Amino acid sequence: MTTQLSFADAERLRRGWDVRQEPFLPHRHEAFAVLADVAVGRRALDLAGGTGSIASRLANAEVTVLDVDPVLLAIARAALGDRVSVVSADLGAPGWGAGREFDAVVAGTALHCFGPDRLRELYREVHDVLAPGGVFANADRMPEGTPAASGDGLAGWHEWWAEALAHPALAEAARDRVDGESADFYPPASWHVDALRAAGFGEVEVRWRRDDTAVVVARRMR
Ligand SMILES: C[S@@+](CC[C@H](N)C(=O)[O-])C[C@H]1O[C@@H](n2cnc3c(N)ncnc32)[C@H](O)[C@@H]1O
Repeated sequence: MTTQLSFADAERLRRGWDVRQEPFLPHRHEAFAVLADVAVGRRALDLAGGTGSIASRLANAEVTVLDVDPVLLAIARAALGDRVSVVSADLGAPGWGAGREFDAVVAGTALHCFGPDRLRELYREVHDVLAPGGVFANADRMPEGTPAASGDGLAGWHEWWAEALAHPALAEAARDRVDGESADFYPPASWHVDALRAAGFGEVEVRWRRDDTAVVVARRMR
C-alpha cells in the first residue's frame, strides 16, 4: 500500500526547499515578491515551479504549478492542496502549452536550465499560452559583467534531496525521476529583453534588480 505524503511532511519539505534555494538566487524572497505582484490575475502559471515556492505566494483564483520532476510535484500537491493544480510536463520540447491559457506566467530560478536556442523557442511558447494583455515575469541570475560568486548551497541541497528521496511516501515518484542536465545559461538581462521582443512580447522591461538577481517582465499585447 502506498503511504500518503502528509501535509505536515510536505510543508516541511516545501519550506526546507525554499530556504535551501536561497544561495542559488540571492535576494530570492524579494524577487519572488515582485513576481507575485506582477502575476495578479485570474489564471496564473508557475513555470518549472518545483515544490510551488512561487505558487504559494500567489493570491490568484486559479494557480497551476508545472514541472517535470515527480518528487517536487508530489510535494507541491500535498503541501498546497486545492490551492493549486499540478501539471507534469517537459519544457524541453514544444507541446506543453497545448490547450492551456493563462493571464500570468511566472518563472523563478528555473529558465537557466535551458540553453539559448530552446529558451528563445520557450519564450514564443509562453507568449502563445498567454491571453492578450497577459504578463510573463522571469526572476533569475542575470549578471551584467563579471558574475558575483554565488553562495555555496550544494551541501544543504544534497541533504534536502537525500531526505526527500528516502521518504516512503515519495518512493514511487522517486523511481519515476529522470535527472536532467541544466544548461546553466545565465545571460545578462538585455539578452532576455531581446529574446522576449523577438518572441512577440511588447512592453518588455527589467522591472527589478538587486546585484545579479533581476526580474524581467513582458506583456502579450494582442
Ligand atoms: C532550481 S529549481 C526552481 C524551482 C522553483 N521555481 C523554485 O524557485 O523553487 C528548477 C526547476 O526547473 C525544473 N525543470 C528543469 N528542467 C525542466 C524541464 N525540462 N521541464 C519542466 N521543468 C523543468 C526542475 O524540475 C526544478 O523544479
